[in-house]
Amino acid sequence: MMNLPRHVKLVEVGPRDGLQNEGTPVAAAHKIDLVHRLQAAGCTEIEVTSFVSPKWVPQMADNTEVMAGITRQPGVRYSVLTPNMKGLEAALPTRPHEVVVFGAASQAFSQRNINCSIEESIERFAPVVAAAHAAGIKVRAAISCALGCPYQGEVGPDAVEHVVRLMKGIGVDHCGVADTIGTGTPRAAQAALERALKHYPVGEVSGHFHDTYGQALANILACLELGIHTFDTSIAGLGGCPYAKGATGNVATEDVVYMLHGMGISTGLDLDALVDAGAAISRVLSRPPVARVARALLAKRGVALP
Ligand code: HMG
Ligand code: MG
Repeated sequence: MMNLPRHVKLVEVGPRDGLQNEGTPVAAAHKIDLVHRLQAAGCTEIEVTSFVSPKWVPQMADNTEVMAGITRQPGVRYSVLTPNMKGLEAALPTRPHEVVVFGAASQAFSQRNINCSIEESIERFAPVVAAAHAAGIKVRAAISCALGCPYQGEVGPDAVEHVVRLMKGIGVDHCGVADTIGTGTPRAAQAALERALKHYPVGEVSGHFHDTYGQALANILACLELGIHTFDTSIAGLGGCPYAKGATGNVATEDVVYMLHGMGISTGLDLDALVDAGAAISRVLSRPPVARVARALLAKRGVALP
């Protein structure tokens, strides 16, 4: 195989992307406990919550409470989603290390998810980026529907690069390319991520793959071949987007860690402790983890699945 990265950084998005889609409310205490378990398992980048409208996403209405309840661990960076100035102003007092503006490569998804066009979203993000930078906070972008859109169908690399360029233009520091509905396959993933690499250094490009069609691990491997070494993953495979019906969770952290460690690529994460964290939140949700590796390891330990 080609020269793959020796170390991969995983951004744990379970507390946010994972829990934003739960039908039954999850108590803030359980979210805080999940963050504590994740950092105990070695996670150094945790996407904790989002500062969005509680009318749109009631699951994240406890954002301030969750941020305040976390016992911070040195070396761990906590990030939150901020779609506009109102979100950023609410987020700043909670002291995130990084904020995320989230746009889309498809106009239809932009409208459904954040109620504005791609161009309008960039106008909203520009002051968010400036104010975050003034506060010394890094800004990451998520570009949704980079490999397909639930409303518009196919999305090509040109559409992805268009938004990458706009994000770069307003000073966004890091570019995350997201397969929101998990329809992408490895060559398409490479084609999309390559467009991000034209504008951002490899260390500031990441992949965010939902595993709806079971393609996420293959897509990550395809990105590793491009030298990309940052990926978002979700503990137990939790999640989905409330505005992408039927889309299941992100690729499971446990599955990605198992693959990477098996390939001799380090992550700094403790797989057994991750399995424990995933099992704990799965018990709260009263359903087994989606993560294949977690299920296998729990079965091996003789632990009954929830
Ligand atoms: P809008 O209705 O266009 O906003 O929503 P507005 O500025 O016209 O304000 C309308 C009302 O919302 C007002 O309240 C505002 O105060 C309030 P009212 O006067 O009616 O009582 N409001 C807010 N409240 C709290 N926090 C805020 C905020 N902004 C306005 N930040 C908005 C625009 C973006 C707010 C809305 O569309 C929204 O909240 N959307 C939620 C989208 C979301 O969270 N989606 C899931 C996360 S993205 C995702 O999962 C994808 C990702 O994982 C990558 C991938 O997989 O693709 C990142
Ligand atoms: Mg997502």
